[in-house]
Amino acid sequence: MTRMSGHPRADARRSSRLATIAAAIAGSSILAACGSSDSVGPRPPIDTTTPPTTSALKDLASRRGIVLGAAVERYLEGGGATGALFRTRLTGEFSAVTPGNDMKHERLAPSQGSYSFAAADAIVAFAQANGMRVRGHTLVWGSQIARWVTTGTWTQEQARTMLTSYITTVAGHFKGKLLAWDVVNEPLNDDGSLKQNFWATNVGADYIELAFRTAHAADPDVPLFLNDYNLEYPGAKADAAYTLVRDLRTRGVPIDGIGFQAHFIVGTVPSRASLAATFKRFADLGLKVHITELDIRIRQPSTSADLTTQASDYATVVRACLDTPGCESIVTWGLADSDSWVPQAFPGWGEPLLFDAAYAPKPAYYAFADALK
Ligand code: XIL
Repeated sequence: MTRMSGHPRADARRSSRLATIAAAIAGSSILAACGSSDSVGPRPPIDTTTPPTTSALKDLASRRGIVLGAAVERYLEGGGATGALFRTRLTGEFSAVTPGNDMKHERLAPSQGSYSFAAADAIVAFAQANGMRVRGHTLVWGSQIARWVTTGTWTQEQARTMLTSYITTVAGHFKGKLLAWDVVNEPLNDDGSLKQNFWATNVGADYIELAFRTAHAADPDVPLFLNDYNLEYPGAKADAAYTLVRDLRTRGVPIDGIGFQAHFIVGTVPSRASLAATFKRFADLGLKVHITELDIRIRQPSTSADLTTQASDYATVVRACLDTPGCESIVTWGLADSDSWVPQAFPGWGEPLLFDAAYAPKPAYYAFADALK
């Protein structure tokens, strides 16, 4: 996926549209009459001013030993009424953030010989100020690599040095500050073969091992993860990931966890038993399990039946995590439907998150809360 986030003009249009929606809702007279609800059932009237349930999701999650996060790509400051609503929801409902883009290579190393940590540091500072954790995402990936790297010509030795010095600098910069690092992102094809990305091609297949060893040397205490999508379904890719991480552990490579991205399509989420069995298989290797980029997309326009199915799909994922000792974090890839990467990455699809475009809780939110209870 190489889509760049945020065209400024589109963002501004979206902000003002959302601000209008939010203002309309805040002024509605239904609002004054309704309180928040704890129960799962018909969708309650929208209330954008008070927390959606009497217990915030993060508190329900923490009682079950789960750190609950959301990816953030904008609105950590500014953004007018929409930004304020975003931050209220984020700090009120979540206990962690993942920078959606700001810790990727192209952002941190935009030009040769210099690093640019300001945006990522601002996220860490925001999290610290609000008592939240940060999942580092991601040190080594075949996408969103700075152009000066991908367009250059490198010897294998130069590519190795580029990889290790980048990891040493970045993991060193954030040393002691992160809940986890996604050290290697999306290394596998769906057929289980190794993706021939920039690093595999220029460094060699051992780039994965090299990345983990280098990250561990730079920050020995942060849990190190391999993160990928489509590992949630039994099959060639999950088997290959299992063999890969088992081999790494057997050889003493410092890997602590497996990240299931969990970018789902509504109605196609594996059953609770299947998902829990998949998680357990990896946990039994001694790995922590994180659900790192959860979203459940719906073909547009959606029906209310879709939203109901989505709610039960979310509950399935939460329950499978709770079934798994070692499943200790769930992160949704964005906060509200209006912030999601889905409409751009998968044209014709949308509404994948727990909050709607006006930051009101969806049926999925209530099902998520209920599953945590
Ligand atoms: C996505 C971001 O959400 C977008 O804004 C960006 O344009 C492309 O990347 N798997 C990952 C994430 O590991 O880093 C991706 O994030 C989504 C898929």
